[in-house]
Amino acid sequence: MNRWIKYWQPMLAALAVSGCSLSGPQSTLDADGPVARIQYETFLVTLWVSVAIFAVVGGMFLYCLVNFRAPGGEVSRDYPLPDQGHGNPLLEIGVIFVSILLVGIVAVPAVYGVLYAGTLPEGQKPLRINVTGYQWWWKFEYPELGVVTGNEAGIPVGRPVEFHVQTSDVLHSFWIPRLGGKMDLTPGQDDWLWLQADKPGVYWGQCTEFCGESHAFMRMRVVALEPEAFDKWAAHQKEGVANTKPPAAINKFQCLACHALRGLPGGETGNRGPDLTHVGSRTSIAAGIKENTPGNLKAWIHNPNDLKPGNIMYKQGYIDMWQNLMHVQLTDAEENELVDYLTSLK
Ligand code: CUA
Repeated sequence: MNRWIKYWQPMLAALAVSGCSLSGPQSTLDADGPVARIQYETFLVTLWVSVAIFAVVGGMFLYCLVNFRAPGGEVSRDYPLPDQGHGNPLLEIGVIFVSILLVGIVAVPAVYGVLYAGTLPEGQKPLRINVTGYQWWWKFEYPELGVVTGNEAGIPVGRPVEFHVQTSDVLHSFWIPRLGGKMDLTPGQDDWLWLQADKPGVYWGQCTEFCGESHAFMRMRVVALEPEAFDKWAAHQKEGVANTKPPAAINKFQCLACHALRGLPGGETGNRGPDLTHVGSRTSIAAGIKENTPGNLKAWIHNPNDLKPGNIMYKQGYIDMWQNLMHVQLTDAEENELVDYLTSLK
């Protein structure tokens, strides 16, 4: 033991750099909305009750270790056993009573939190967003606004948002840690949760149910905007891209078989991949795993399998359709044209 204790400084440093951080883009300890706050407070109550139990039990244990050790530190066969007692009704009833009390202290905020998260607040009409999980990206639809986006959802600050979650394939789970959560996406089921952001900002989210080889790369972002900015954003997202000049590669490689570019001929129906109508306005690409820069976009287009192993754009698009069926491959010039075009779709 002693030879380990002398290394306490490097051990503490290792703990510090191992990701034991209290803040960060996905920290539940950095709650920024009413649902997240209730969940955080419930966690604190549980934490302090546990700390109290630990202190009392650990304290009694230490006390006994020190006070009732064998004289001289020697354990001997000859040393007589202490008096053996059995049963102490007062103590036993007391322990049971205290346990029930502690469970009660934890249960009250927990049950309150469950009811709070499961009841839409009165007053403001919530904004509805339908979320669909795919291997491995997220679709966000705003049925009342006629807006569709992929992997990044705008929401208005200070207004409850009702997320209805469903899956197109396997189990996923929707979680925006700093706003609260989470909710599983179960096939054939319409489940929902409500979240609200207190202030403008970009909130990172993450799929938290193992859903295949690129599960860890199934991320998303929720962008909270002031109400006027949100209205503007939604109105703009609704617009199509009829006035743009798409490069020939879009047709040659049949991108619109899977992706929507609303406003282009044949661009309304692609729904196996994210809607790209305003892809240039998003902060990230490839379901939140890379910042949306021309360099990253080109790397993603060049070989999507490098960034997100097993994705269907690569397996069914690049390999099955382009390589095996059509015998085509993107050239460097075509990649650059696609990057320029998609980046321009603000
Ligand atoms: Cu979707 Cu994990």
